[in-house]
Amino acid sequence: MLSTLDQIEKKALTELENITDESALQSWRVSFLGRNSPLMKVFDQLGTLPREERPAIGRRANEVKQALEAAFNARSESLRQAALQRSLESERLDVTLPGRPVRRGRLHPATQTLREVYRIFGEMGFQIYRSREVETDEFNFQLLNFPPNHPARDMQDTFFVDAGVDRGDNPILLRTHTSPGQIRAMREFAAMDPQNPPPIRIILPGMCFRYEQVTARSEVQFNQVEGLAVGENITFGDLKGTLSDFARRVYGQHVRTRFRASHFPFTEPSAEMDIECFVCGGAGCPICKRTGWLEILGCGMVHPVVLRNGGYDPRRYTGFAFGMGPERITILRHKIEDIRNFWANDFRFLQQF
Ligand code: PHE
Repeated sequence: MLSTLDQIEKKALTELENITDESALQSWRVSFLGRNSPLMKVFDQLGTLPREERPAIGRRANEVKQALEAAFNARSESLRQAALQRSLESERLDVTLPGRPVRRGRLHPATQTLREVYRIFGEMGFQIYRSREVETDEFNFQLLNFPPNHPARDMQDTFFVDAGVDRGDNPILLRTHTSPGQIRAMREFAAMDPQNPPPIRIILPGMCFRYEQVTARSEVQFNQVEGLAVGENITFGDLKGTLSDFARRVYGQHVRTRFRASHFPFTEPSAEMDIECFVCGGAGCPICKRTGWLEILGCGMVHPVVLRNGGYDPRRYTGFAFGMGPERITILRHKIEDIRNFWANDFRFLQQF
């Protein structure tokens, strides 16, 4: 029996030496340590042996079992190491290959212009005031002196938001201009001290929406930057000075400006500001439609009714307001031919800026 055990041990260890893969290793384990292996048979037969032989044979059988288990574990670990080594070699990384370039982000051209406008007005003491994009008819139109059915509304076709309830003359809509922010801002400032509302100097930037056919020249969404200054003794001269200064800072010290009479229900008097065409220097070209001038914004003195709607007494306060389309500034500056590029998310367009 003892020599059988020696033979088992010898055979098992020799066979283990030649094993090079995991599945062979598993069958080795079944043959030499499994329930039907010769070694286990020895354990089974222990009870049938003469009493005095049992301790020696039992001890030796245990030794062999432990030796085989230890050898198995060692072999298993060395196979694992070898497999790891092979995969490290075959899947080796070539760190000298050039990396994949990371695409660098940049600011959208509309954002670039907006930030420039913020900076310029910031230097003139205007703060940024953010107002909501989803408005009511009351704020977008009525409080700005457009009564229901007023013909001036034709200029600003609107997207209505279906709130599921009939709100009569005050439906919810997407703002068609940033001007409703004038009322919201004035009311907020006036609430700080209703007897003595503080002066206001703000710009109100943000998206506006109009229900229009999308063409190369008109989009359903666009940015505006509204300006509002309210205080005592603010005059049309302040309006002209502020906006002429703005034009010089954007287009250069020598740019000429002109104000043309216009009409908006919420300003009186109203005007549009043109700058001399910087493409042709005023001589007339296709960009300025041969007029020599480019229209860049609408403006005027805040209408007394609008001041009152904002909580400012028009007998004491005056103010000016303006509204410009920064996309138009960007288009003119970069000679962009199609306004649809702005929101189309086409890399070929965006990467140029
Ligand atoms: N809200 C006007 C528009 O969208 C522009 C404007 C703003 C005109 C403020 C005068 C004063 O056309």
